[in-house]
This record gives sequence, structure tokens and C-alpha cells, in this order.
Amino acid sequence: MTNSFNSIEFKNNKLILLDQTKLPLKETYIKTDEYERIAIAIERLEVRGAPAIGISAAYAIALSFKNITIVQKNHFEIVYERLWKTRPTAVNLFWALNRMKKVFELNKNSKNIYNILVSEAIQIHNEDVIMCDQIAANGLQIFKKKSTVLTHCNTGKLATGGGGTAFNVINYGFKKGKVKFVHADETRPLLQGSRLTAFELSKSGIPFSINTDSTAAFLMQNNKIDLVITGADRIALNGDSANKIGTYNLAVLCKHHNIPFYIAAPTSTIDQKCKSGKNIQIEFRDKKEINSFKKEKITSEEYEVFSPAFDVTPNNLITGIITEKKLHLPPYNFRIL
Ligand code: MRU
Repeated sequence: MTNSFNSIEFKNNKLILLDQTKLPLKETYIKTDEYERIAIAIERLEVRGAPAIGISAAYAIALSFKNITIVQKNHFEIVYERLWKTRPTAVNLFWALNRMKKVFELNKNSKNIYNILVSEAIQIHNEDVIMCDQIAANGLQIFKKKSTVLTHCNTGKLATGGGGTAFNVINYGFKKGKVKFVHADETRPLLQGSRLTAFELSKSGIPFSINTDSTAAFLMQNNKIDLVITGADRIALNGDSANKIGTYNLAVLCKHHNIPFYIAAPTSTIDQKCKSGKNIQIEFRDKKEINSFKKEKITSEEYEVFSPAFDVTPNNLITGIITEKKLHLPPYNFRIL
């Protein structure tokens, strides 16, 4: 296993995605120039995390124009709709698709449409790299002392185009001597914490341990956590934030134990059409992910399963929301960005 890795790379007119379903035990890559394969990669969570989904979808739109001499009338709409349906909660997907749509509308008659769309996708990717660094810089102020941090799901290089959101705040904090230890929630059911965040913490040399999601209360009760920071998949205008299932539990626990709870996300995660968390569509996962493990049955297939992929943390439980612009404090109003 190499020490550094690229999770999303556009090279020689192909998209190269590090297959996140195989990590951390295998480092394998998906290399494709087919938009359908990228749509499948998003659906399978081979690429996941809100900003990374948006970036991949932008490249997918562009690649759908590669090698096309005569563009069929509805080509853009077909590709756009296919990608639109891949996952419902992370707004970065729709944000990126709409950005590509604007560029397409302006240039649809150009012979150069493929290169124009590729440039826009690269621009979206590059902007995310910069936003990740700005989020990290703005986040440093949350560390009031050398801290032990708890995080949930995966918000690092794998989930974004750059160094990450919440993960990058932790990483910058560690480099500046403000973070001493990280507890990574394993993040049921797909284990983004124990597989992906642990992989990234290990690569960054940050001391950490993995804990089951239900251990967070125990850690807090024993004064082991100074603050919690997570990412978000969609933030409403009033600050209500959707993130991986279990995030809301953490925010409630933080309130009870008087521990600060922060969210870090780029402004592409703020949904300008969404007034509050009530309007956020939550993805539900297949029961197979709960009643079996690595294709081995662990409970009866006949049992019903309830498996939302995300929950919404209400704004009154969020100490601060870190974006590339600043650390936003309550009351949140993201209408004017
Ligand atoms: O289902 P996933 O793995 O795509 O969910 C990802 C998360 O919930 C992340 O915390 C969120 O996208 C923030 S990524 C910077």
C-alpha cells in the first residue's frame, strides 16, 4: 500500500476513482470514460462523500461528450437525469449537475463542447481543493486546548476533491499541535469510519482508535472527548444539517455533556432551496446491508429492516458551522452567501 493516494483523478481523458468499497485492505482503481460506469460507482459507493459525488458527476457529464461527433437531441438531459437519480441526499450532486447544465446551455452549439465541459469539471474539482484548505484554516479556532476529537463517517480526501472537510480541520489541528487524539466512530452499516477514516488517520500519522457508534456516550461520560466535528451532506438555510446516520445522536449527546458539536462543509453543501431540515430527502439503504455482513447472513432475511443512510441534526444543537468563508455561529442564516 502506497503512502499517498488520489481518490479522484482525471488523467488522459479518463476518470480514475479509488474504489472505496475495497479499502483499507485493497487499493484498487476504477478507470473509465463512461458516464454510466461513474453513475454506477456513485450508486455502489465506490465513490462517496458529498463533494466527491458532485465532482465525479461533473466529470461524468463531460465524459459523456467524449468521442461524440453528432450530439443527439436529448443527450445532455439523458445523462443529467441518470446521474441525478444516483443518490438523493448529498446536495453537492445536484449543485454540480446544475453547474454543468449552465455551461452546456451556453455552449451547446460549440464543436468544442467536450473540452469546455471537461474544463468546468476540472474547475469544480480544483475549487473543492481550495475550499478544503480554507475550511481547515477557518476551523483551527475551534480548538481551545490540545484536544481529543470524536468524528463520524468519513470526511477526508476520499470524500472530497481536496484534503477533506471535518477531517481536514482535524488534520490541520494535529499539524499545529492542537489535536492529540481522534476517536473514529465505526459508522454502521457501511463502516466508513473504521475502513476509510481509520485509513486516512493512519496515513496522516494521527493517533486514533476506532469505536462502535454506541460507545460515544461512554467516552463523553468519562470526559474523554473535548469536541465533536463531522461533515454534512446537505445544510438547510436555517443550519439544520443532514449527515451520516448517527450524527444527530452525537449532537444530542454533546448537548447533554456540554461538549461543542461542529459541522464542516463547503458552501456547495448549502441548499439554497431548502428552508429547514424538514425538506431534506433522506436516502434509505437496502436491508441486505443490515441482515448480512460481507454477503454472509447474520439474521433472518424475513425480518424487516429500517435503515436510513442519513439523519438531520437541528440547528440548535450545532455550536458552529465551518465553511470556506468562516466559522458561522448561531442563529444561522445561509440565504446570502
Ligand atoms: O453515504 P456516504 O458515505 O456518501 O456519506 C457520507 C457522509 O455522510 C459524509 O459525512 C458527508 O458526505 C461529508 S463528506 C465531506
